[in-house]
Amino acid sequence: MRFLFPILAALAGLSAAAPSAKRSINAPAAGTSISSGETIAFSYGASDWCHGGYSPIAMYLSETQPAGVNATGGLDDGTYIQYFGSYLINNFGLPVLPPAPPTSITITDLESYAVGSTLYFSVVETALEGTCPGGVSHPAEYLLTSVPLTVA
Ligand SMILES: *[C@@H]1O[C@H](CO)[C@@H](O)[C@H](O)[C@H]1NC(C)=O
Repeated sequence: MRFLFPILAALAGLSAAAPSAKRSINAPAAGTSISSGETIAFSYGASDWCHGGYSPIAMYLSETQPAGVNATGGLDDGTYIQYFGSYLINNFGLPVLPPAPPTSITITDLESYAVGSTLYFSVVETALEGTCPGGVSHPAEYLLTSVPLTVA
């Protein structure tokens, strides 16, 4: 009995994490207005499709909607306006492993973009090679999610 409780607790933890299986940019919402130097909320729900302990993410602001990532899982240099950095999302209630994702991001200078124009905020989530538990071997895999934002 003594050994059963930690196992049940671990299973409960796993099932509680399951609803995050579908990735989503929770903030900024599609259509959010942005202006130069403005700080806006950021929140991303990781897919964590392979159930790794940590999900690396990176965020970008682009003029056009990115069609995909390059060979190393980034957006090609020169195809984005701003790079917000790379962070680690902790899954299953594991301890935070810095750098943890920020809860807000500050938008760069947008003076060269007309009011009303659409820019795209993107998150690339990475499942690193060999990080899936259970000895599942897979190459690094990248999930790209974008939302349109409006220059105010
Ligand atoms: C791929 O993306 C990364 C991250 O943005 C970048 O550092 C790298 O230079 C890119 N590769 C090419 C060929 O642009």
